[in-house]
Amino acid sequence: MTDTRDTQALTTVRDLVRWGASEFGRRGLVFGHGTDNALDEAFHLVLHKLHLGADLPTLYLESALTPSEREAVLALLQQRIDTRKPAAYLIGEIQFCGLSFYVDERVLVPRSPIAEMIEQRFSPWIGEDPLQILDLCTGSGCIGIATAVEFEDAEVDLADIDGGALEVCRRNIARHDLATRVTAIQSDLFDALVGRRYDLIVSNPPYVPTAEWEALSTEYKREPKLALEAGEDGMDIIERILCEAPDYLTEDGLLICEIGGSLEEFDARYPTIPVAWPEFVRGGDGVFVISRADLVAYLETR
Ligand SMILES: C[S@@+](CC[C@H](N)C(=O)[O-])C[C@H]1O[C@@H](n2cnc3c(N)ncnc32)[C@H](O)[C@@H]1O
Repeated sequence: MTDTRDTQALTTVRDLVRWGASEFGRRGLVFGHGTDNALDEAFHLVLHKLHLGADLPTLYLESALTPSEREAVLALLQQRIDTRKPAAYLIGEIQFCGLSFYVDERVLVPRSPIAEMIEQRFSPWIGEDPLQILDLCTGSGCIGIATAVEFEDAEVDLADIDGGALEVCRRNIARHDLATRVTAIQSDLFDALVGRRYDLIVSNPPYVPTAEWEALSTEYKREPKLALEAGEDGMDIIERILCEAPDYLTEDGLLICEIGGSLEEFDARYPTIPVAWPEFVRGGDGVFVISRADLVAYLETR
């Protein structure tokens, strides 16, 4: 965007954040990739461009910008409006479990409520620390890498079908210096994992019904379709995970899987499955937990 007489009236950090939020509102942008409103999104982008942290003392919101800083900030805000790309893609980074992850359009923008479970070391759902862990449908690797940081003795496999996602994932493994015990594997669900057994399988797979995916806003359509859409009722991938997981879990192993807003579809397909639904303090829902033993028993009766 060119710095017009109009925008030259904006002098402070606060002015730029307010202006950005107003423009985002006027242009009908959609949020949900790290922030849930226009002001937070504008704040995040403005501070990023100025190389300032989100913990900036409020006093500095009144600081004046240099003309070149203002131009750079305006350009980034305009890019958000013109491209409708989530902010994380524009700046190439997002926080998950207090860790920084590289992201681009080859992966979903990390936002799973499973983060909260990782931070609580999956308490009260697991007893002993898991030693072999699988993050199935790993995308950027955020879930598996954050889990590896939490469980220092664990070996963690990160599996995804998509080569581009795995390149992002490998970059994040290197970023967190975890290559000795975290491995990225290209696999159509469990296909390349035959013979392996895990104490914990954690997954945020695609689960959006096709018609719902069609109706998503541009911001969500910027994410890979392969990361979101999963057949008519969104259960295509979940069905395969439920059926195949027992062969890859240890005797006392546990499956933790997100189904997000597809609760109705899940209930319709699996009305009697004995899963537990953790509650989340920071919001979000739609994550189930089931032991291998309960899953095997359920599969035998259906
Ligand atoms: C919802 S994204 C989750 C990414 C990451 N776990 C997160 O929480 O941000 C789902 C991921 O599953 C991958 N995927 C889709 N179908 C798959 C399959 N059949 N086997 C393995 N991975 C698959 C996609 O490439 C995508 O990276």
